[in-house]
Amino acid sequence: MKVIATVAEMRELRSQLSGSVGLVPTMGYLHQGHLELVRRARRENQTVVVSIFVNSTQFGSGEDFATYPRDPERDLALLEKEGVDVVFMPSAEEMYPEGFSSWVEVEKITEGLEGASRRGHFRGVATVVCKLFNIVQPDEAYFGQKDAQQLVVIKRMVSDLNMNLEVVAVPTVREHDGLAMSSRNTYLSPEERKAALVLWKALNLAQELWQKGEKSGDRIREEMTCLIEREPRARIDYVSIADPDSLEELSEVDHAALVSLAVRVGKTRLIDNMTLG
Ligand code: PAF
Repeated sequence: MKVIATVAEMRELRSQLSGSVGLVPTMGYLHQGHLELVRRARRENQTVVVSIFVNSTQFGSGEDFATYPRDPERDLALLEKEGVDVVFMPSAEEMYPEGFSSWVEVEKITEGLEGASRRGHFRGVATVVCKLFNIVQPDEAYFGQKDAQQLVVIKRMVSDLNMNLEVVAVPTVREHDGLAMSSRNTYLSPEERKAALVLWKALNLAQELWQKGEKSGDRIREEMTCLIEREPRARIDYVSIADPDSLEELSEVDHAALVSLAVRVGKTRLIDNMTLG
């Protein structure tokens, strides 16, 4: 497994590769969710490149950029075991050299949900992902469905800017009790870890109501909100029932809907989602 730190080296190596290249962009501190992306990329490509870069530009002021968990040695050992060919691990200066001033803005679909709570987040995500695509030039890029809005934004960017690659969505990996895997789960105390299950319970409630014939988006949202509010450690950021492509809120769920939510448990902000229909 080659570990590469510069854009020039990555480009040089890419020019020597033939066959399909799969890219898994990550911010490191890998868990089973990331490894699922890597395994899928491994099955589907001749060469697998994983990037590890904690991207400062997608964190707002007051967010956890400085304290975001990092363990590059452990990450590299895990990736080696998965048979990854190349790890691209650039420094901040390599990705954002002095004078950097070009950004990718995806409009409309970035305004609500995560975009409303985390101003500028998707500008940072779209910009770094675009840069990674330009540097690695993958044929396929793998992203988890857990970050549902991120996935919609990246697909939009790829389509709008005619980027020559396929975006592959990989289902969310969950702990035994249903909690979606996330690097931020490590912030939770044992009590908060139990309380965090309320996200999964709320999603299941939405599915149950919908399967029983409830088609009112407002009613499903209300029931989910009531359930979460009964958990004293949880504070709702948003509960959304939206169109899976436009991300516009739905008052009626007559076809597919993306149910997503962001909830603070203690100081940790968690997100999760499920698709109905
Ligand atoms: O999902 C993530 O870990 C990040 O948002 C990504 C796609 C690696 C961009 O920094």
